[in-house]
Amino acid sequence: MPKIVEVLPDKESLIQRSLTLVMEKLQAALDARGHCTIALSGGSTPKPLYEQLATQSLPWDKVQVFWGDERYVPADHADNNARMARQAWLDLVPMPPANIHPMPTDGADPAADAQRYEGHLREFFHTQPGEFPTLDVVLLGIGDDGHTASLFPHTQALQVCDRLITVGEKDGQPRLTFTVPLINQAACVVFIVSDASKRPALTQVFAPIADNESYPSRLIQPQGELYWLLDAAAGLELNQKG
Ligand code: 6PG
Repeated sequence: MPKIVEVLPDKESLIQRSLTLVMEKLQAALDARGHCTIALSGGSTPKPLYEQLATQSLPWDKVQVFWGDERYVPADHADNNARMARQAWLDLVPMPPANIHPMPTDGADPAADAQRYEGHLREFFHTQPGEFPTLDVVLLGIGDDGHTASLFPHTQALQVCDRLITVGEKDGQPRLTFTVPLINQAACVVFIVSDASKRPALTQVFAPIADNESYPSRLIQPQGELYWLLDAAAGLELNQKG
């Protein structure tokens, strides 16, 4: 399915558009199946979106929240992605704790914790070996280097195609991450990108030809919908012909 690229005039309108899109997709899943699943991205860009989600009215007991990646730090560490989302959103709405599925980072062994989360996902989604579950929404950001989730350039994580979860690495620091095939199984992937610092990476990601290992976000080609929501600072010069 061709990507949908939307360039919003500023960060505030980017967040508003992200909110309406995410709400639309979650509501559609709720209408269709009575529940919905979303994987959150980390970093700084999505925080105002999570703050906006905290103001919305959804049957929160029917919403299941996962993470697409996590820094391998304790749950109460300032860099922990789940901690940020709990403070901005999840602690502020009546969502049952059982609906919140943070990646484990307390086992002192990233590979073992990656498999723990994989097992948890397989149990939750009732997937068979070799199957990849379909999440309704997967939120992603992009780094200045073109990484997404914790799929960093020229790392082994980019090659993993028979797992749901693997160990990524940034500057020698381990991270847990959805694999490319798990992200690509999503019903709807939404990149939310702000700031001129992302423009060089976006140019490479959107180029007809470029090295996927150097710009891993190019590997995200979901079987479902792919949205790139950009503010003008990030997306002004892009060829938006999809
Ligand atoms: C993380 C994210 C990562 C993030 C990008 C963009 O754990 O940091 O999942 O993939 O989305 O690095 O980060 P910013 O939104 O802070 O620019």
